[in-house]
Amino acid sequence: MRAWPQGQGAHPRAGQITRVGAKRRRVRVRGDSGRTSRNAGAGMHLKIVGSAAGGGFPQWNCNYRLSRAARAGTAGVEARTQSSLAASADGVAWVLFNASPDIRQQIAATPELQPRADGPLRSSPIGAVVLTNADVDHVAGLLSLRERQPFAIYATEQVLAVLAANPIFNVLDPAIVPRRRLQQGGTLDIADAEGRPTGITVESFAVPGKIALYLETSSRPDADFSSDSGDTIGVRISDGGRSAYYIPGCAGIDAALRARLAGAACLLFDGTLYTDDEMIVAGVGQKTGRRMGHLSISGERGAMAGLSGLDIGRRVFVHINNTNPVLDTNSPEHAAVRAAGWEIAHDGMEIEL
Ligand code: MLT
Ligand code: MN
Repeated sequence: MRAWPQGQGAHPRAGQITRVGAKRRRVRVRGDSGRTSRNAGAGMHLKIVGSAAGGGFPQWNCNYRLSRAARAGTAGVEARTQSSLAASADGVAWVLFNASPDIRQQIAATPELQPRADGPLRSSPIGAVVLTNADVDHVAGLLSLRERQPFAIYATEQVLAVLAANPIFNVLDPAIVPRRRLQQGGTLDIADAEGRPTGITVESFAVPGKIALYLETSSRPDADFSSDSGDTIGVRISDGGRSAYYIPGCAGIDAALRARLAGAACLLFDGTLYTDDEMIVAGVGQKTGRRMGHLSISGERGAMAGLSGLDIGRRVFVHINNTNPVLDTNSPEHAAVRAAGWEIAHDGMEIEL
């Protein structure tokens, strides 16, 4: 993984201190070569361990120009692993938000998530995993967290039901890896398997979304499978003082979501597609973003327009699909997003609040 590519004048640099939003929080951004958060001072630490949507970038079977460019090592086109975020209140205990199929590679690239050199024979700083939906890119990594390592899983009733209905997840023995319910609209202190607080608090709220792709039934070809009742949630992640919103999947923005996000110090938001019909135009799929439960970045009904004018300290697109032109830092779309005050997440990106 590389830090920010060259030639992005507007991107924060390692060690740069930036100020965010009306709350005037100190936000430090560090490159991959910086000290680890374990040594950092007080404040909530966020690390984007995977910034791509399902399939990753490049996707294994994708020959679209962007995946080809990433494979070729083209300047300004950086490879990315699948969607996941790590958060910590103290730089020691970490909570993972979504467990991607790339989790093994992500842990290998993230010292904060590895056993401490002076730790017990079997150990992990990952105290809990919070799931924002049951999509493959968000739950498949749970299978790689077997090996009888205690941690806690937090998810909505719907997502817990999906895990329960798929016995392969029993590789995580619930006696060792307890499954705990996130109440919609509720706020919960996230604890590890033994009930010790991690220092991270999560408020969960339903966002317009969709059931997981593999739960769609072919007998309902015309159904849109949309849902706003907890199949997909957004979360406000807090250390008791500072907070950030993490919404990697969202099908639309309504007045309630705008009101919720007004004044946020930091927002990590669904940046799957730049345009709604992008996959169709690219010739790699038949579905619009809306049909997949993802609003687009651009357009009247897109994220940039829908969240414009709100007082948000720092806004970052995550969960970026391999067809999204913003993945090329030299593209006009990338420039347009930056001009609108948004950042494009990359793997290893750190945010301190
Ligand atoms: C999504 O975000 O829509 C899903 O991850 C798609 C998928 O399961 O591949
Ligand atoms: Mn996804």
